Amino acid sequence: MTREIGVGLIGLGVVGGGVARALLERGDYFARQVGASLVVRRAAVRDISKRRAVELPTGVLTDSVDAVIADPSIDIVVEVIGGEEPAGTFIRQALAAGKHVVTANKELMAKSGPELLADAHKRGLDIMFEASVGGGIPLIAPLRRDLLANKISSIRAIINGTTNYILASMTSAGAVAEALRQQGIEPTGGGGFEEALAAAQELGYAETDPTNDVEGYDAAYKLAIMATLGFRTRVRPSQVHTEGITKLTARDFQYAQELGYVIKLLAIAERTEGGILARVAPAFIPASEPLAKVDGVYNAVQIVGDLTGTVLFQGRGAGADPTSSAVVADLLDLSHAIVQGNRERKYWGPEGDVPILGLEVLETRYYIRVSVKDQPGVLAQIAQSLGNHAVSIAAVNQKEADANEQTAELVIMTHRAREGAMRSALQEIAALPVVAGVSAFLRVEG
Ligand SMILES: NC(=O)c1ccc[n+]([C@@H]2O[C@H](COP(=O)([O-])OP(=O)(O)OC[C@H]3O[C@@H](n4cnc5c(N)ncnc54)[C@H](OP(=O)(O)O)[C@@H]3O)[C@@H](O)[C@H]2O)c1
Repeated sequence: MTREIGVGLIGLGVVGGGVARALLERGDYFARQVGASLVVRRAAVRDISKRRAVELPTGVLTDSVDAVIADPSIDIVVEVIGGEEPAGTFIRQALAAGKHVVTANKELMAKSGPELLADAHKRGLDIMFEASVGGGIPLIAPLRRDLLANKISSIRAIINGTTNYILASMTSAGAVAEALRQQGIEPTGGGGFEEALAAAQELGYAETDPTNDVEGYDAAYKLAIMATLGFRTRVRPSQVHTEGITKLTARDFQYAQELGYVIKLLAIAERTEGGILARVAPAFIPASEPLAKVDGVYNAVQIVGDLTGTVLFQGRGAGADPTSSAVVADLLDLSHAIVQGNRERKYWGPEGDVPILGLEVLETRYYIRVSVKDQPGVLAQIAQSLGNHAVSIAAVNQKEADANEQTAELVIMTHRAREGAMRSALQEIAALPVVAGVSAFLRVEG
């Protein structure tokens, strides 16, 4: 008789339901792969009366998480409820009860991953978390295993499908507006963030409360996990400089396009001589770059290793099927280890303390949009302010004036400069009497 591995689910929503379905429908194949049958023994939810997309055998569903953790026939607990608590407590309890853990929880792994992994290791157990970053895209296993021989110098990612969908629709709104203008038709409204968000919510690509996505927090969690693994040092989400996409306007998309760029919410972690720079922010990237072509709800992660050079991972970063693929892969890996006699799991933990740098030392190019009084000599004053901080202009474009307000708009691309210097220059510019306001400031990455 084939050996059985007991699986306990905590959560049976989008991901948990996908995992349960895969285990039920592909059980024979999984059994052949690991030499044991994976059996869902208990699945804990909040409300057992809710209709479920997947039907589990009678008696499996419970509203008691304790029933999962205390069940001696369960070898592996899958935490798919999300959030820091009570998920963290459940995982610690499962480890204390001698169970391996699989989780899709990015927030928890970003904030407490190293401690949880150390706790698991101490007990001869493991926590696997492939689904926490990039849904169905293999990223954690490559960072923990396949790229281990490398010194990784950078991770650049589009890692949040909701914002990527919103930005792609704002990009095409800009293109549509421009096409209309070329035909002499002035587009009415449209192309703004609020409108794109509402459309994404309508289509189910954005949650009712989209804060975590649009403010960049979700991407910062994922970047913190990847940077911690890739650089083998602790990078906390609070150390990732995080900016959201809510202040972007249709104009920025239009100007980006005119200049040969697209706007993406980029998550970037780089290892420099002085330490690590980590940021999540909307940025200009050249339209010709591979990441510029990652549209809709797709995710992509570009990792540069000293031995591999650049490797690019791309695919569906969310959804029941892709995410369950990652969770089940972890379940199969752990099941195989159990079948093999639960030999000591390989420990992963940070190796040293590399400093995390403030963004003022970042050196890149910038795009700024400034609303100015429509009068002679304005550009010279702005150039002077930039020059005072050693920031030089690469290109400048004066956009159409607003006759009523007697203002004009200047779009400026700079050469490479330190962010600290750039910010000081912007403060000086904002205080000039001829300047009505600095309307946009974006990094040019790439
Ligand atoms: N959705 C995705 O595409 C995706 C992709 C990658 C990673 N993830 C991660 O996967 C995790 C789960 O996401 P999801 O989209 O599957 O969430 P979801 O659809 O909201 O499902 C959450 C499940 O957890 C249960 N639950 C919540 N709190 C509980 C508690 N205190 N005790 C017992 N059960 C509880 C809920 O029970 P009820 O059903 O009774 O309400 C529900 O079954 C999160 O960490 C998320 O970040 C999701």
